[in-house]
Amino acid sequence: MRRFTLTILPMLFLFLAVGFQSCQKDDEPKEFIADDNTFANFDTWSLDVTKQGMDPSLGAAHGGNDSTTVRKIYFKDGVKRSGDEYPIGATILKYSYNSNGQVNVRTGMVKRGNNFDAEHNNWEYFVLMPDGKIATDADGNKMRGVQLMNGACVSCHSGASSKDYIFTK
Ligand code: HEC
Repeated sequence: MRRFTLTILPMLFLFLAVGFQSCQKDDEPKEFIADDNTFANFDTWSLDVTKQGMDPSLGAAHGGNDSTTVRKIYFKDGVKRSGDEYPIGATILKYSYNSNGQVNVRTGMVKRGNNFDAEHNNWEYFVLMPDGKIATDADGNKMRGVQLMNGACVSCHSGASSKDYIFTK
């Protein structure tokens, strides 16, 4: 009995260890689909970048044509690139506002993965409500996707394609 335990235990351990490792691999998400909770409490995330004032390269986007605009960029869980790219599930929110209240916009990017938009590194673009929920346009459609704002988001962010489409970090 004793000998049996001595042989079987290490084998069991080995089996579990190998099993656990392969399990972890399978657990790596292939796709992350954001929902109304994904951007909740964004103002408690890591505020990694704050920009202020005009930026001619922005034009009117992100309120970049107004000298009083502040643009705060929050990275959920302080996410960073791993290698050249951000990991699947990486979630970034940019809050732009100005002194007269005319600019008051929350935009987001989520690394969705799963060949969602393989040509542009699989990011999904969002417009969000003040509480972080996904906004709805006048036709009742959720403001999300690659074609958001007729593709303006992805086309301008392509200027940062060498940095995985993220300008600031
Ligand atoms: C005309 C260019 C332009 C357009 C259009 C644009 N962006 Fe940006 N975006 C930028 C620049 C430049 C930054 C860097 C921060 C800054 O200078 O304010 C940025 C920053 C961001 C960030 C923070 C991550 C980063 O790249 O640093 C998010 C999130 C974001 N934009 C989302 C969007 C979404 C969603 C849309 C469409 C609704 C959009 N952007 C449209 C130029 C643009």
